[in-house]
Amino acid sequence: MRTWITNLRPFDALAVQAVLERTTDLREAERFIRLFHAENPKAGGMTARLRDVTRDVARRGTYTHTYEELEFGARVAWRNSNRCIGRLYWRSLKVRDRRQVTTAEGVALECVAHLREATGNGKIRPTVTVLPPDTPARPGPRILNDQLIRYAGYRNRDGSIVGDPRNVELTEMAKALGWSGRFGRFDVLPLIIQPSMGDPLMCNLPGDAVLEVPLVHPEYPWFEELGLRWHAVPAISDMCLEIGGICYPCAPFNGWYMGTEIGARNLADTGRYDQLEVVADRLGLDTSTERTLWRDHALVELNVAVLYSFEQAGVTMTDHHTESRRFLTHLAREEQAGRVCPADWSWIVPPLSGSATPVFHRYYDTRVLTPAFVHHR
Ligand code: ARG
Repeated sequence: MRTWITNLRPFDALAVQAVLERTTDLREAERFIRLFHAENPKAGGMTARLRDVTRDVARRGTYTHTYEELEFGARVAWRNSNRCIGRLYWRSLKVRDRRQVTTAEGVALECVAHLREATGNGKIRPTVTVLPPDTPARPGPRILNDQLIRYAGYRNRDGSIVGDPRNVELTEMAKALGWSGRFGRFDVLPLIIQPSMGDPLMCNLPGDAVLEVPLVHPEYPWFEELGLRWHAVPAISDMCLEIGGICYPCAPFNGWYMGTEIGARNLADTGRYDQLEVVADRLGLDTSTERTLWRDHALVELNVAVLYSFEQAGVTMTDHHTESRRFLTHLAREEQAGRVCPADWSWIVPPLSGSATPVFHRYYDTRVLTPAFVHHR
């Protein structure tokens, strides 16, 4: 096989390589079908299904999941997400099967519909929208944004950045494709979609698809003047959903936020909105020495503001103490079900008051299971 590829001209060799990469691994397929039937004994017909899958993989290089397999696979991919502390509700994931959507416009419309349904006026529903998989015949579509909702980051001539420094590259890509930002700190970026075939499409998200929460503090009226805000729904859009040897490169999914993601990272990290000094100054803290713990104090007030604002706005959000306890409940349930629940300590422990949460004081199984959400090249 290898000599055959290298005898081709470079371009053809790449094309063949891509087709081979998109061919389903039959062992993965079989392992998944067995898992599905082990956990869904009422489904029945495993032997016939295994025979059909084997035949399809031999003929077409791939097979097609039933809706039940897809729903189960997506839920288990969440269950297997080692970095996610919020897995207690993995069974409630809503799976939108949109495998028939082929155009870039169709993908864009589905992303907008996903956001509207998942946002639900603030009562956020964990949701995944599954678009066509990679097949030997053609690659699936892709979303170039790493989340459906991202704030622009504009680089000034002097090197300083307005907005979210994390998204400078994405912002520059959008600008290169003709988007013009308003140079604000919280400008929502357009989606950039690469369809299976043809040119990429750029599309602005309609305002009603993007719920945002302006941040206020329960005790400090000046907090509002900082002009901080965040969006309600974190929807990751650049990870592949991998089920039974099939890769769905376009499967945006969301849960709801835990406050620290915004208050202790997005708005606090020095490589992000870097707001600790600003908050400390307004609090009147002594920032001349680290030993006053002004950073820690500012972090707490910022996180109080995030949790309070989302609650006031009626938008689902969890705090890190509650979520840590829920995660231990999840671990116990998984153990009861006779499964291992792998987890990555460095992601599970919250970035604020780690040792004050129970998830800090133990170790976890670190193996990697599939189905899974994965980052491919
Ligand atoms: N940490 C990411 C962010 O701040 C979101 C990751 C997913 N979070 C979640 N709660 N489902 O945007």
